[in-house]
Formats: sequence, C-alpha cells, structure tokens
Amino acid sequence: MAYRFMTAEEAAHFVKNGDQVGFSGFTPSGAPKAVPTAIAEMAEEEHAKGNEFQISVFTGASAGDALDGALTKAKAIKFRAPYQSNKDLRNAINAQEINYVDMHLSQMAQEIRYGFYGDIDVAIIEAADLNENGEIVLTAGVGNTPTYARLAKKIIIEINKKHPKELKGMHDLYEPQDPPYREAIPVYKVNDHSGCSLLKVDPNKIVAVVETDLGNSVGKFTPVDEVTSKIGQNVADFLASQLRSGIIPKGFLPIQSGVGNVANAVLGSLGENKDIPPFTMYTEVIQDAVIGLMKEGRITYASGCSLTVSDSVMDDIYSHLDFFKDKFVLRPIEISNNPEVIRRLGLITINTALEADIFGNVNSTHVLGTKMMNGIGGSGDFTRNAYISIFTCPSTQKDGKISPIVPMVSHVDHSEHSVNILITEQGIADLRGKAPIERAETIIENCVHPDYKQLMWDYLKIAKKTHTPQSLQAAFGMHIEFAKSADMRNTNWNEYMK
Ligand code: COA
Repeated sequence: MAYRFMTAEEAAHFVKNGDQVGFSGFTPSGAPKAVPTAIAEMAEEEHAKGNEFQISVFTGASAGDALDGALTKAKAIKFRAPYQSNKDLRNAINAQEINYVDMHLSQMAQEIRYGFYGDIDVAIIEAADLNENGEIVLTAGVGNTPTYARLAKKIIIEINKKHPKELKGMHDLYEPQDPPYREAIPVYKVNDHSGCSLLKVDPNKIVAVVETDLGNSVGKFTPVDEVTSKIGQNVADFLASQLRSGIIPKGFLPIQSGVGNVANAVLGSLGENKDIPPFTMYTEVIQDAVIGLMKEGRITYASGCSLTVSDSVMDDIYSHLDFFKDKFVLRPIEISNNPEVIRRLGLITINTALEADIFGNVNSTHVLGTKMMNGIGGSGDFTRNAYISIFTCPSTQKDGKISPIVPMVSHVDHSEHSVNILITEQGIADLRGKAPIERAETIIENCVHPDYKQLMWDYLKIAKKTHTPQSLQAAFGMHIEFAKSADMRNTNWNEYMK
C-alpha cells in the first residue's frame, strides 16, 4: 500500500491548533485511541512552550478515556459535541472550561453537512482493515464516521489489530442525501441492509496510517440488584400485558434499550420473562445483556450503532464471529436513531430518567437541574418517535435522600407529550390518554417511594387547581431542601406557603 505508515506521535502533527476534528466510533467502540492520546501529549508540549493548542472535538457519542480523558487532562478541547460520559470531561464542562453542545445524536451528521458547525479539518478513524482503494472495514462502532470521513480535508487511519478483518459485512453504511433531495431510508425491517459494508474514502486524503492494538476498556456494569431487577420485571410484565391485550401486535415489536446500568438490567429481565416472545432490537448501543440473550435465542437480531460491551464479552463475540455474524448489523447513528425509521418499525423504547415529574416530563441530563451528567444521547430520537415510549428509574437515589420523582423536573429533555409510561421498582404508571391531574395521581400512587408519597400528595393539595396543578413557589422545594439539608425527605411545604 502506498500509504504513509508512521507512529501516533508523528500522525498527531497533522492536527493543528484550532482544527475541527471528527472522530470515528461511538463510545470507546470504534473510537481511535493512540492518535488522540498523542494529540494530548503534543498539546501539553505546546502549552509548556507558551503556545495555544486547542481543538474542537466531534464524535459519535462518548469516546473513552484515551480520547476524551486524555484531551481533557491536556486542556486540549475547546468545543465538544454531541455526547460524553467521561468523568474528567464532565467536570471540565461543568466548570465551564469546555463549551459542550448536548444534541439529539441523530442530528449531528446532518447538521455538520448543513454547515451549522463549519468545516471538518481532520477525520481520525479506527479501522479493522484498509485497502489501497481507500476502502475501510470499520471496527465495533460507527457513529458519524461516514460524514466526517467524506467531509474532512485530511484523514488519519488507526488500524487496530484487536479487531478482526472478518468484521467485514457487519456494517451497513448509508448516508442520506440532504433536502431537497432526500429519499426514504430503505430500512423496512431491523435486519435490512441499505448501504455499503465498507467505508470508501478518497485515498489521496489519507495522510497517515498508524497501527495499534489498544482495547476499548469498556467497564463492567453494576451487578443487577433487587431494585433494578424489580424495575426490569415491571417492564416485562407491562409489555406482556400489552401483548395480551393486542396493543402490541402478535410477534412483538423491536425493542430499543437505553444506556447505563438500569437499562442493562431491564433488558436482562425482559429476556428472562417467557411471556415475551423472542424479540429483535433496533437500538443505539448494543450492551452486554443483548449478547447473553442472543446466545439463549431470546434476541434473534440486533441493529445498533455500536457494540459497547465489556472486554470479556467482546472477546467472546470475536471468538464466535460465525455465530454472531448474521445476528447483528452496525449502522451510522443517523440511521440507527433515525426518526423516520423508528416510527416505521414501531419501536418500543425503554430509556432511563435521571428525574421525572408527576406530570410525565423527564430530565435525562442535568443532576439537580444544573450539573451535566452525560447528555440526551439518543433518548429524544427514540422517545419522540416510539410506538410506546417507556422511562424507568429507581424510586430513590443516594440512600433515599433523593426522590427522582419530583413535582417539577429541574430540566426538561422529554416533555409530557412524548412520555407514555413511567416505571420504577414500585410499579407502573400508564400515562396514555390521561389529563395532567390523572397522570399525577397515577405516578404518585404507583411509582413514588413510600417515604415520599405523602409529601407528593401534600404537594398536590397546595398546588393551584388548574389544568396542570403546580405551585410556582414550591415546585422546586424538594431540590432546594436537598441543597440545604442533603435530604429531600425534610421538605416542608409550609415554608413556601408563608
Ligand atoms: N439526582 C441526583 N443524582 C442522581 C439522580 C437524581 N435524580 N438520578 C441518578 N443520580 C445519580 C446516581 O446516584 C448515580 O450516581 P453515582 O454515579 O455517584 O453512583 C448516577 O446518577 C447514575 O445513576 P444510575 O442509577 O447508576 O444510572 P444509569 O447508569 O442507569 O444511567 C442515566 C442513567 C440517565 C445517567 C443514563 O441512562 C443516561 O446518560 N441517559 C441519557 C442518555 C440516554 O438515555 N441514552 C439512551 C439513548 S439510546
């Protein structure tokens, strides 16, 4: 091959201060690792010399410590979009050191193409294989790679030997035309392939090729406990009842399942419930639980944007690729999360709320209203377009001192108009067809923890009796109490009635 093979340190020099850099992948899966770390080191050297060095970082989603962690610690990030979950990066965002734009993930690629964010100077892409025609076999996550690669002025490829070339055929890369030329996205079933399995780039744009074998280092999930297992059982019981009543068609509908510990546990319970037939997934992130359920025949096919599984599960998949090869497909995020496809397929969407209010509004992103946690991710793409949209959360957090169910959410990501069902370990609130006061009564009765139930009923008594009963003085009383005494249970509504 005529490409210029070099070290990550040499390749990093193609990235200049002020550049807008598009990184491949989605979560650490598919994200480059050696070159971003080398850029971070280069930034530190430049800073030590008194020079400015910061870049804008565009990814598919979160990107792991070798990228987000290293660049943040080196103070090398000026701007970041569209999602993150790295502790150092989160702290820098909350300290206003980095400008972070939290976006619906399906929109990133098209907004880059529309020109909302300016040019992409460099694309850095993790590959399992590359040939002389510029054809690339991607690894375990796709994200926005096709768009970043096509628009970038320069491309750096990181060939990662951890990923077998036999991944060829497991990706389906379809990039829609932009309006007014966009056509229907040809995905009518979860396993439809609509595009190319290889990413084709202009080989003349490839300025450097780096070889590495760095792993994804995806951590293990918190083990399922009593609370998450009960939430999962409640979700499974609810879906089984919808199937019996004919609301969910016989044969079931594809499932989308969110990210994090709760989502992983919920999916496990869903798989165990034999009232639910074997099902398919059309989802964003394929987490550990999916792989176990595939082996048991409970999940027959999964379409996603990335395989974000712990290292041992990834090793298992790669050792049994023949078994898994016809059981999943990895797509760009703008297709895995595409509103048109989500509505067409009729997805049952299950995402996790940080906080929900008694009227059905959901906060997925801001801890106690101000601190960014991760981002909205794909939860908005899926919730707004679902056949049935479900949110789950435990009924308490932080040893009971926080109730995730409050009178008014401290930040709104999903409005009452998009949220159908709220489920905690306490029970199920079906919000469909209910007026705000009925939603409040259903949520308090079925989902709120016993320690907080009376507090919520009392709130409704002091709330103004209108279409949506609220007390504007007291709506954030539980949050204010937590800031004062670190325990929402101490809330005293009389303080707001003076
Ligand atoms: N107030 C304060 N802290 C809260 C809280 C609340 N209402 N709810 C949760 N937390 C804290 C937890 O205590 C925990 O803290 P810790 O890390 O110090 O232990 C942390 O937030 C994570 O909570 P956990 O219950 O373990 O949740 P999770 O791992 O299941 O993740 C979300 C939950 C909401 C953070 C995660 O699902 C997310 O980022 N969602 C947004 C994106 C999304 O939905 N994507 C899916 C699209 S496909």
